[in-house]
Amino acid sequence: MPSDITRFTHSGMSWSDVADAGELNAVLDRGGSERVNLLMHSANLYGAKKALAFGSKQGRKKGLVLDFGCGVARTVRFFGEKGWAVIGTEISSEMLYGARKFGLPKRSLLAVTDGVCIPLRDQSVDMVWVVVC
Ligand SMILES: C[S@@+](CC[C@H](N)C(=O)[O-])C[C@H]1O[C@@H](n2cnc3c(N)ncnc32)[C@H](O)[C@@H]1O
Repeated sequence: MPSDITRFTHSGMSWSDVADAGELNAVLDRGGSERVNLLMHSANLYGAKKALAFGSKQGRKKGLVLDFGCGVARTVRFFGEKGWAVIGTEISSEMLYGARKFGLPKRSLLAVTDGVCIPLRDQSVDMVWVVVC
Protein backbone atom coordinates (compact mmCIF):
# COMPACT_ATOMS: atom_id res chain seq x y z
CA MET A 1 0.00 0.00 0.00
CA PRO A 2 1.45 3.41 -0.87
CA SER A 3 2.72 5.26 2.18
CA ASP A 4 0.89 8.46 1.24
CA ILE A 5 -2.53 6.82 1.25
CA THR A 6 -3.52 8.63 4.45
CA ARG A 7 -2.60 12.02 3.00
CA PHE A 8 -6.26 13.13 3.17
CA THR A 9 -6.17 15.76 5.83
CA HIS A 10 -8.03 16.78 8.94
CA SER A 11 -7.19 20.29 10.14
CA GLY A 12 -4.10 20.15 7.92
CA MET A 13 -2.90 16.83 9.38
CA SER A 14 -3.19 13.33 8.00
CA TRP A 15 -5.88 11.09 9.43
CA SER A 16 -3.17 8.85 10.85
CA ASP A 17 -1.66 11.81 12.70
CA VAL A 18 -4.91 12.62 14.50
CA ALA A 19 -5.97 9.04 15.25
CA ASP A 20 -4.96 9.19 18.91
CA ALA A 21 -6.80 12.43 19.67
CA GLY A 22 -9.73 10.68 21.37
CA GLU A 23 -12.89 8.96 20.21
CA LEU A 24 -14.59 12.13 18.97
CA ASN A 25 -11.69 14.54 18.47
CA ALA A 26 -9.95 12.07 16.15
CA VAL A 27 -12.80 12.01 13.67
CA LEU A 28 -14.80 15.20 14.27
CA ASP A 29 -13.26 18.53 15.27
CA ARG A 30 -9.79 17.81 16.63
CA GLY A 31 -9.47 21.16 18.37
CA GLY A 32 -13.16 21.45 19.10
CA SER A 33 -14.78 21.58 22.49
CA GLU A 34 -16.40 18.48 23.96
CA ARG A 35 -19.76 20.23 23.62
CA VAL A 36 -19.35 20.80 19.86
CA ASN A 37 -18.09 17.27 19.25
CA LEU A 38 -20.93 15.77 21.29
CA LEU A 39 -23.39 17.82 19.23
CA MET A 40 -21.88 16.52 15.96
CA HIS A 41 -21.74 13.00 17.36
CA SER A 42 -25.41 13.06 18.34
CA ALA A 43 -26.41 14.49 14.94
CA ASN A 44 -24.52 11.60 13.26
CA LEU A 45 -26.16 9.01 15.49
CA TYR A 46 -29.56 10.56 14.84
CA GLY A 47 -28.89 10.16 11.11
CA ALA A 48 -27.84 6.54 11.63
CA LYS A 49 -31.02 5.87 13.66
CA LYS A 50 -33.10 7.40 10.88
CA ALA A 51 -31.34 5.20 8.30
CA LEU A 52 -32.13 2.09 10.35
CA ALA A 53 -35.74 3.17 10.85
CA PHE A 54 -36.10 3.84 7.11
CA GLY A 55 -34.66 0.42 6.26
CA SER A 56 -36.90 -1.27 8.77
CA LYS A 57 -39.97 0.47 7.28
CA GLN A 58 -38.94 -0.91 3.90
CA GLY A 59 -38.92 -4.38 5.45
CA ARG A 60 -35.14 -4.66 5.61
CA LYS A 61 -33.90 -7.09 8.25
CA LYS A 62 -30.78 -6.56 10.34
CA GLY A 63 -27.85 -7.83 8.36
CA LEU A 64 -24.38 -6.61 7.46
CA VAL A 65 -23.54 -2.93 7.37
CA LEU A 66 -20.36 -1.62 5.80
CA ASP A 67 -19.00 1.44 7.62
CA PHE A 68 -16.78 2.90 4.91
CA GLY A 69 -14.04 5.07 6.43
CA CYS A 70 -14.99 4.01 9.96
CA GLY A 71 -12.26 5.97 11.77
CA VAL A 72 -12.07 4.89 15.39
CA ALA A 73 -15.31 2.93 14.89
CA ARG A 74 -17.78 5.06 16.78
CA THR A 75 -20.56 4.08 14.35
CA VAL A 76 -19.32 0.48 14.15
CA ARG A 77 -20.14 0.40 17.86
CA PHE A 78 -23.51 2.07 17.28
CA PHE A 79 -24.60 -0.41 14.59
CA GLY A 80 -23.25 -3.32 16.63
CA GLU A 81 -25.35 -2.23 19.62
CA LYS A 82 -28.39 -2.22 17.33
CA GLY A 83 -27.79 -5.86 16.45
CA TRP A 84 -26.13 -5.46 13.05
CA ALA A 85 -22.98 -7.24 11.94
CA VAL A 86 -20.50 -4.55 10.90
CA ILE A 87 -17.42 -4.36 8.76
CA GLY A 88 -15.44 -1.16 9.07
CA THR A 89 -12.95 -0.20 6.38
CA GLU A 90 -10.24 2.39 6.77
CA ILE A 91 -7.21 3.76 4.95
CA SER A 92 -5.49 4.56 8.22
CA SER A 93 -4.26 1.63 10.30
CA GLU A 94 -3.69 4.09 13.16
CA MET A 95 -7.44 4.79 13.19
CA LEU A 96 -8.12 1.08 13.46
CA TYR A 97 -5.63 0.80 16.31
CA GLY A 98 -7.69 3.48 18.07
CA ALA A 99 -10.89 1.64 17.17
CA ARG A 100 -9.69 -1.51 18.92
CA LYS A 101 -8.67 0.52 21.95
CA PHE A 102 -12.20 1.90 22.33
CA GLY A 103 -13.71 -1.57 21.94
CA LEU A 104 -15.63 -3.34 19.23
CA PRO A 105 -18.95 -5.13 19.12
CA LYS A 106 -18.97 -8.92 18.86
CA ARG A 107 -20.03 -9.30 15.24
CA SER A 108 -17.65 -6.76 13.76
CA LEU A 109 -14.57 -6.82 11.63
CA LEU A 110 -12.14 -4.07 10.66
CA ALA A 111 -10.05 -3.92 7.50
CA VAL A 112 -7.40 -1.56 6.22
CA THR A 113 -8.05 -0.90 2.55
CA ASP A 114 -6.43 1.07 -0.23
CA GLY A 115 -9.28 3.57 0.04
CA VAL A 116 -10.92 2.31 -3.15
CA CYS A 117 -11.45 -1.46 -3.07
CA ILE A 118 -13.91 -2.99 -0.66
CA PRO A 119 -12.84 -6.48 0.44
CA LEU A 120 -16.29 -8.04 0.08
CA ARG A 121 -18.22 -10.01 -2.51
CA ASP A 122 -20.65 -8.07 -4.69
CA GLN A 123 -24.09 -7.67 -3.12
CA SER A 124 -22.99 -9.14 0.21
CA VAL A 125 -23.75 -5.97 2.17
CA ASP A 126 -27.20 -4.83 3.29
CA MET A 127 -26.36 -1.21 4.01
CA VAL A 128 -23.44 1.14 3.47
CA TRP A 129 -22.73 3.93 5.95
CA VAL A 130 -20.25 6.67 5.03
CA VAL A 131 -19.11 9.69 7.03
CA VAL A 132 -15.89 10.75 5.33
CA CYS A 133 -14.65 14.21 4.54
C1 LIG B 1 -14.27 12.43 9.37
S1 LIG B 1 -13.48 10.88 9.72
C2 LIG B 1 -14.96 9.97 10.07
C3 LIG B 1 -14.71 8.61 10.64
C4 LIG B 1 -15.98 7.80 10.89
N1 LIG B 1 -16.71 7.56 9.66
C5 LIG B 1 -16.87 8.48 11.89
O1 LIG B 1 -17.92 8.99 11.49
O2 LIG B 1 -16.52 8.48 13.07
C6 LIG B 1 -13.04 10.30 8.10
C7 LIG B 1 -12.34 8.96 8.10
O3 LIG B 1 -12.39 8.46 6.77
C8 LIG B 1 -11.16 7.82 6.48
N2 LIG B 1 -11.06 7.81 5.03
C9 LIG B 1 -10.92 8.87 4.19
N3 LIG B 1 -10.95 8.46 2.91
C10 LIG B 1 -11.11 7.10 2.94
C11 LIG B 1 -11.20 6.09 1.93
N4 LIG B 1 -11.14 6.39 0.64
N5 LIG B 1 -11.35 4.79 2.32
C12 LIG B 1 -11.40 4.47 3.63
N6 LIG B 1 -11.31 5.38 4.63
C13 LIG B 1 -11.17 6.68 4.29
C14 LIG B 1 -10.13 8.67 7.22
O4 LIG B 1 -8.93 7.95 7.45
C15 LIG B 1 -10.88 9.00 8.50
O5 LIG B 1 -10.66 8.05 9.50
